[in-house]
Amino acid sequence: MKLRRQLAAAAATAAVLMLVPSAVAAAGGEKGRADDSLRALGARQDLRIGTAVDDAHLGSDAAYTKIVADQFSVVTAENAMKWESVEPARGTYDWAAADRLVRFAQQNDQSVRGHTLLWHNQLPSWLTTGVADGTIGTAELRDILRKHVTDEVTRYRGKIWQWDVANEVFANSWDPNPLPNGLNGDDFWIKNLGEGVIADVFRWAHQADPKALLFYNDYNIAGQDGTNAKFQAVHDFFAKLVAQGVPVNGIGEQGHLDTQYGFDAQRFQADLQSYGDLGLKVAVTEADVRTFVNNSTEQVPTSQLAAFAQPFEFSEMLKGCQLVRQCISFTAWGVYDGDSWIPGTFAGTGYGLLYDVDMKPKPAYYALQQDLALAAGNARHNGK
Ligand code: G3I
Repeated sequence: MKLRRQLAAAAATAAVLMLVPSAVAAAGGEKGRADDSLRALGARQDLRIGTAVDDAHLGSDAAYTKIVADQFSVVTAENAMKWESVEPARGTYDWAAADRLVRFAQQNDQSVRGHTLLWHNQLPSWLTTGVADGTIGTAELRDILRKHVTDEVTRYRGKIWQWDVANEVFANSWDPNPLPNGLNGDDFWIKNLGEGVIADVFRWAHQADPKALLFYNDYNIAGQDGTNAKFQAVHDFFAKLVAQGVPVNGIGEQGHLDTQYGFDAQRFQADLQSYGDLGLKVAVTEADVRTFVNNSTEQVPTSQLAAFAQPFEFSEMLKGCQLVRQCISFTAWGVYDGDSWIPGTFAGTGYGLLYDVDMKPKPAYYALQQDLALAAGNARHNGK
């Protein structure tokens, strides 16, 4: 509890030190939005600030819903647009949760990041079982994938700003079967349809919605692997696709950090800039900074240092994006610690987001607010 009081004190101090009210109040924020909200401050530098949204809370949880509407100008469905969610049975679509989010975004003047069309995870069991038992052959699998991409992108044509067309197909240093170009040879789609499937899904998505910005999305592709090898593989692979005229518009760095590993902010920014130098847009798509906590209910950091490293690394990621003209959005992977994927995946860790388990803004929230306020007014690009 002592540390939580210190954290609250730190948050309060940060709030007092805030320059925001004076600097921004004068300029007037987004229509009807608090001038010092993350979204209003982001708008003043053409940067959309976002969050992943859990459909289970949207609308039903008033406090949660208010934070999403008030603070964020771009939203991502945490799970509602994934294949297992939208086509639980073959040919039977369930768009209800995805439609809810898109409607909410339209009502709250928010953009939508579509997540995700091709991924090895959260695939419907009818598909993985069919491939495993051979009842779905290669040609049929390809047709099924094309139909899925076409049907989902067509349904939301003109309503999705950025699509994560392909997600996490590159190998990590611990993966046993990396291909020479860095793709993961054991990835469900690479294994069954070959590496050409990546270019194909971008073409199919573009045909279905020529206006949507089409992104490749992954983690540890901005130096977090320590060797920058994964960055180099993604950079070189998409440099080739861009040169071949494949409709790729951007690279999404997920931004899942852990304070125990430290964070090379210069490397992060330089890698984002290198993707931008390919003529691509860049986005930080799933930012969170986890640390060791006392338990998954309270999520109080066990280390004093980590309690300050969390907001620091979050801020460094945002500044890395702010300093790269092609970085057009910065998204946190969830609203508050009480609904984060982290404790259920990395036992003993948590405290990863901008709001704590009681949906109270944390030092990380104020750090980002300060970063945005200090840069407010510096139009970085025309937001397109
Ligand atoms: O919907 C079922 C529900 O019917 C069932 O009762 C419940 C009990 O197990 O599970 C629910 O499914 C869960 C689903 O989230 C929806 O809540 C899955 O078990 C759970 O594994 C799934 O976790 C999601 C995870 O992706 C799956 O890999 C997380 O919420 C989501 O935050 C996470 O997000 C991924 C990004 O898409 C890609 N990058 C990494 C990121 C973190 O893993």
